[in-house]
Amino acid sequence: MTMVSPSLLSADFGDLRRDIEMLNDSACDWFHLDVMDGVFVPNISFGFPVMEAMARHARKPLDVHLMIVQPEKFVKEVKALGAHVMNVHYEACTHLHRVVQQIKSEGMMAGVTLNPHTPVSVLEDIVADLDLVMLMSVNPGFGGQKFIEHAVEKTARLRELIGRTGSKALIEIDGGVNRETGARLVKAGADVLVAGSAIFRAADPVAEVKALREL
Ligand code: DX5
Ligand code: ZN
Repeated sequence: MTMVSPSLLSADFGDLRRDIEMLNDSACDWFHLDVMDGVFVPNISFGFPVMEAMARHARKPLDVHLMIVQPEKFVKEVKALGAHVMNVHYEACTHLHRVVQQIKSEGMMAGVTLNPHTPVSVLEDIVADLDLVMLMSVNPGFGGQKFIEHAVEKTARLRELIGRTGSKALIEIDGGVNRETGARLVKAGADVLVAGSAIFRAADPVAEVKALREL
């Protein structure tokens, strides 16, 4: 079984409650919430007031993906949402080890995300402390982008690093994931698939979640 974390970035923000209820009734595992600050990435999505509203209706654990500078400033706020996973970008954290410890001390799963150009080898000395590593298979900032093929081979290299270091981290992949790319990512070692447009643009989003989970 593959875990599926639908990205709410592709939801209808004019009818968010309906889309959240649809996912509550689906087989999805987590809700993926994409926070963008217009600095770390060239786009702005939503912030805490909107996520608090989402959290009130969501009946699945929240997987928060912070595409922001200085994510360490918001550990307590993310915890207050009731988040299960807090994902910070490797490229946004000068003192990554400290941020990871802060996230874990709040009782959340600590996730570290790598942009497409960042090699998995930079995680060598931290991966044993992580609960999750997320690989971006698009440049973060927008939903609906084309999958970067390199991510498949990179997933296999991350699986090797995790095995070699005795890490228990889950591997999550974000960007351009659909049934076709998802199948290859799972084969390469992915545990969790994030999907935005593949789910929300599908004729039957609930069936799409199910199909991704069965990869
Ligand atoms: C990209 C976000 C992704 C995005 C995925 O910056 O982090 O979570 O919403 O959307 P799709 O699945 O459409 O690529
Ligand atoms: Zn994301």
